[in-house]
Amino acid sequence: MTWIRKLAIDLGTSNCIMWSENEGIILNEPSIVAVEAENRKVLAAGNEAKKMEGKTPDYIEIVKPISEGAVIDYEVAVGMLKWFLREVMGSFWFLGPEVVVTVASGLTQVEQRAVLDAVAEAGARKVNLIDTPLAAAIGTKIPIAEAFGNMVVNMGGGVVEAAVIASGGVVTSKCYRGGGSRIDEALAEYLKKKYSMAIGDQTTELVKIKLGTAVKLKKTEMLSIGGRDLVYGLPKNIELNSDEIFEVIRPMLDEVILVIKETLQTTPPELVADIADRGIVLIGAASKLRNLPLLLTREIGVAVHLALEPENCVVKGAGMAMENLEIYRKLTR
Ligand SMILES: Nc1ncnc2c1ncn2[C@@H]1O[C@H](COP(=O)(O)OP(=O)(O)OP(=O)(O)O)[C@@H](O)[C@H]1O
Ligand SMILES: [Mg+2]
Repeated sequence: MTWIRKLAIDLGTSNCIMWSENEGIILNEPSIVAVEAENRKVLAAGNEAKKMEGKTPDYIEIVKPISEGAVIDYEVAVGMLKWFLREVMGSFWFLGPEVVVTVASGLTQVEQRAVLDAVAEAGARKVNLIDTPLAAAIGTKIPIAEAFGNMVVNMGGGVVEAAVIASGGVVTSKCYRGGGSRIDEALAEYLKKKYSMAIGDQTTELVKIKLGTAVKLKKTEMLSIGGRDLVYGLPKNIELNSDEIFEVIRPMLDEVILVIKETLQTTPPELVADIADRGIVLIGAASKLRNLPLLLTREIGVAVHLALEPENCVVKGAGMAMENLEIYRKLTR
């Protein structure tokens, strides 16, 4: 724990990631907070709060203060950020760092302001905002200053967004609320309807990661999971197969296809030609869904690649912008 002068933050719907100039990624924890129900005092945040999810007594409430990229519970978001800053800076946390925080391109001015204010109130000395797609492009080493067009698609926990970047700025972008959490909801709903079974959030995510695929697998895979029978209220085990999970997930991917198509439709033709040449880069942890690049390449007709570190490139790019604020000044605000 040291004094951190400069800090980059990716404040996501599912995860909050922090990056410091000397150490790289110093924190990666779920955006979850356990609060006292009566007075909303923060009891735990991140990994510690996640462990409590689904197992708390009445007087403790589990809150997810970020939804679809926006701050939906301001006080709790500030409490969570304070908690994380103390975790990484210890007693130095009051020497507020200068921060670059990423914001989804679909946020309104008011929503962007709420992110900025929350980070400032949590203890930052100065706060700069950067658009997620720009940070991602910097983090994946796309030469953003060139006049060529590049497309970055982010599939996170709460949003799917596509952006075309050229000459150091976002030329056109589109953002839908959706992403990984919506897939989890669809899977939980399917299990309820088909097997009369309730499963916890962590099991739902496991099913998605182990069996989920964007293109039907040649060889079916199986996974055994446990939950609660909704009719008898008793523990229940079932075997799921990758084919049924594919059938549930595939319709949920229509929004990613749509967001890319709509963005391309509003992109100047010269830049579309560049994108066709260079391909599209996928970022965000939800884009690690098996075979997603293959599905998108087929549907869009342009090569789609998964970035090297899809979950970390946004905060890394924000960190790189932070280190070179003079160069990136016009990208941040
Ligand atoms: N291997 C994987 N396959 C499929 N989905 C995954 C995998 N690993 C993580 N995910 C999903 O990725 C999502 C979280 O992505 P990410 O951390 O990029 O979101 P975020 O940045 O917090 O949210 P957002 O950018 O939408 O505000 C979760 O829904 C999680 O279940
Ligand atoms: Mg994100």
